[in-house]
Amino acid sequence: MESEKFWDARYREQPKSWGDDPNIFLSQIDLKGLSSAVDLAGGNGRNSLWMASQGLKAENVDISSVALEQFLDRAEQREIADKCLATQADAINAKFQLTPELLVIAYLQIPADQFEKAFHNSLAQVANGARVFGVWHAIENLEHGYGGPPSKEVLVSEGQLRKLTEKYSWKDLKIENRNREINTDDGLKIAIDVVLEGTLSS
Ligand SMILES: C[S@@+](CC[C@H](N)C(=O)[O-])C[C@H]1O[C@@H](n2cnc3c(N)ncnc32)[C@H](O)[C@@H]1O
Repeated sequence: MESEKFWDARYREQPKSWGDDPNIFLSQIDLKGLSSAVDLAGGNGRNSLWMASQGLKAENVDISSVALEQFLDRAEQREIADKCLATQADAINAKFQLTPELLVIAYLQIPADQFEKAFHNSLAQVANGARVFGVWHAIENLEHGYGGPPSKEVLVSEGQLRKLTEKYSWKDLKIENRNREINTDDGLKIAIDVVLEGTLSS
């Protein structure tokens, strides 16, 4: 409830926080052959909107109803509303409308125990052989990177992701820290993200 209020206020005050473009690492993945995606904690929808513009049915699942209203407005403006679904729910027990072929989790920064529940709850609802893409502010970002949450308890590590993924069987699985460039008024800065990419065995 607190989290919902916090994020609703944040989106009312700063609707442009995450910009219009999809996350750089998500935009580099090949969507060929995929028809549906769930964007967990998709916010006001930059990643869902991009996937919908590529022809996928995209369901944005977020705790903030304000973010989801903004997402649906943006989908209308881009004339892709027929490809977009919104579900207001907490990631730890959200029930998806779709059984997605692609699960995207971008910058869902919640404490580790909640994150673990959200991860397993999501993977339980994807299609057989689904692809999973995740990106988070890495724990290393706190001391060595730009931006991101200032609190260690919501930052994510490669080790944490390895542990969470080990109970599933994967055709391929990559977990690694990556540098992301950000242009700021004070010049180019580097943020350290941790990225997960994999395909579940069907
Ligand atoms: C940093 S924003 C990222 C938004 C989006 N994924 C993006 O990359 O543009 C974090 C998002 O997580 C959502 N969120 C936070 N806690 C959540 C929870 N427990 N369940 C679902 N969404 C949550 C917030 O509402 C917010 O939209």
